[in-house]
Amino acid sequence: MKKYFRYIKDTLSCRFCRQFSLQGSTINWITYNISPNKNNSVIIENSKVSHCSFNVNGTNNKIVIKNNADVAFHGITIEGDNNEVVYDGCLAVISVRIRGNGCKVSVGKGSLIDESSSIVCMGQSNYVDIGEGCMFAENVEIWDSDTHLITDLMGCPINPSKPVVIENHVWLGKGVKVMKGVTIGHNSVVGMGSIVTKDIPQHSIAAGNPAKVVKNGVDWKFGFIDI
Ligand SMILES: CC(C)(COP(=O)(O)OP(=O)(O)OC[C@H]1O[C@@H](n2cnc3c(N)ncnc32)[C@H](O)[C@@H]1OP(=O)(O)O)[C@@H](O)C(=O)NCCC(=O)NCCS
Repeated sequence: MKKYFRYIKDTLSCRFCRQFSLQGSTINWITYNISPNKNNSVIIENSKVSHCSFNVNGTNNKIVIKNNADVAFHGITIEGDNNEVVYDGCLAVISVRIRGNGCKVSVGKGSLIDESSSIVCMGQSNYVDIGEGCMFAENVEIWDSDTHLITDLMGCPINPSKPVVIENHVWLGKGVKVMKGVTIGHNSVVGMGSIVTKDIPQHSIAAGNPAKVVKNGVDWKFGFIDI
């Protein structure tokens, strides 16, 4: 397929692009390359999108940005069919890559995802679900797949892709990496540079590589520390 990106400078010019549906939103410098006539759509409602790129190659894919979401310096790449990305009232500066079918990446209300963070979602009906009120520092990576297949000597797959769930109000420190199949319980904290390979319970602090629980019975707050 011939690849070329189209540039849109502002809200007004975005209104003329068939793949985009805008309602009460502000657009500022986006580029896109979306397979035409294949029921792919970008729905932006009451939100702000600036300096973003949308690259969609496949059929029946949907990107929804809604409820005062503020999405900037951001790239979404989707390859496959029936995939979905939903940003619901969050503030996100990330890159999202989906390769598969029926996959979904969602970020919930009030979640704040800092620069250079990325989410990779691959497989069949796989998903990354980020809850409400989460805070990710810079360079956080979420991988719900190893991206390449490993087999046993009989050729049977041994590393299937598996969903990642980050429950509400989870703080991931700078450079945290979350691997396939992990659920991080609500109100928990993961320490700087940790690699999370197993579930982390709610209200706990986990740290290290692989991340282990180092404290239980904790909570955390947005805003800067003053002690
Ligand atoms: C996770 C964190 C918040 C925990 O702070 P804390 O509750 O004061 O924890 P402590 O310093 O008492 O450490 C508890 C244990 O975890 C270990 N630990 C803490 N952070 C760790 C990390 N990032 N990696 C590996 N081990 C870590 C400590 O060595 C200590 O181990 P010990 O019990 O064997 O002595 C803090 O260590 C951290 O990572 N802060 C950085 C957060 C960040 O990324 N901020 C960027 C802006 S959002």
